[in-house]
Amino acid sequence: MNLPQIDNRDLHNEIHVWAVDLDQSNLSCVEAIQELPEAEAKKAGRFHFKIHQDRYVKGRFMLRSVLGMYLNSDFYDQEFHTNLYGKPALQKPPDDHSIRFNISNSENICVCAFSQYSEIGIDIEKIHDLPDMDRIIARSFSEEEKRRFCSLPLPGRTQTFFKYWARKEALLKAMGMGMSYSLNKIDIAGNENSPQLVIKIEESDISNQWTILDMDIFTGFASALALQGEHRDLAGRVRFFHPADEYVISFKEKNNNIFLCGAEI
Ligand SMILES: CC(C)(COP(=O)(O)OP(=O)(O)OC[C@H]1O[C@@H](n2cnc3c(N)ncnc32)[C@H](O)[C@@H]1OP(=O)(O)O)[C@@H](O)C(=O)NCCC(=O)NCCS
Repeated sequence: MNLPQIDNRDLHNEIHVWAVDLDQSNLSCVEAIQELPEAEAKKAGRFHFKIHQDRYVKGRFMLRSVLGMYLNSDFYDQEFHTNLYGKPALQKPPDDHSIRFNISNSENICVCAFSQYSEIGIDIEKIHDLPDMDRIIARSFSEEEKRRFCSLPLPGRTQTFFKYWARKEALLKAMGMGMSYSLNKIDIAGNENSPQLVIKIEESDISNQWTILDMDIFTGFASALALQGEHRDLAGRVRFFHPADEYVISFKEKNNNIFLCGAEI
């Protein structure tokens, strides 16, 4: 596979999201699994269904291939450690310049997000009917989110549910806490029409400003990205691992232009 020559300088002022439709990708699972570190190859071996194994392997392969490009290293130099709640990061001692990453899968889609200066989290969710949506809302939404949600016309609610859910999960993944943090303690309802919101978490032990961005990458999926700090004027790129394609995104408020770059990858 011809991957672009990129390095971590490309990440200085940007965030990058790499995306792949795992079922369409021509990556060879047999070859990819041989490249993965032992622990990940073992995990792959534990999936009951081949399709889930293939998707996991291809997602990991994308994550590590792209990291390798930024770091100019191969798979074996990329040691990960995980925090108490399972968030993976590069093993080397934390410094302000190290690359942060996060990965999310939903069905056949995998997205990986990379940044250099801010903690990052990403989530993608396939939009589908959810019989116990009301129960989840009662338990996991803040009062403001519930109020906003209930004021929406019925037809768009499932889509909004997943949009809120992706925002929440991206934020919790950027914070590194995942679902160990009370979902209803944060409020991500924001402005319905803005793709970007900045929120504050009022807790002393957690860095308190976070930017959340909605992303519209694949039809039928809700996706969001969260970054530590307040970013009002951020540039980003979405690169498709396979088939090769690239979008440049301006996350500027009220100017969320997405335009195709058409880079050959
Ligand atoms: C993180 C979490 C929200 C992911 O949910 P999900 O919708 O099932 O999965 P996604 O596809 O979006 O993300 C999965 C990836 O997120 C990453 N991840 C795992 N834990 C994470 C965390 N706490 N923060 C950020 N990212 C995390 C991993 O890379 C994982 O990929 P992997 O399973 O292939 O290793 C969920 O697994 C969670 O809450 N984990 C925390 C569990 C916890 O608190 N454990 C404490 C044990 S004491």
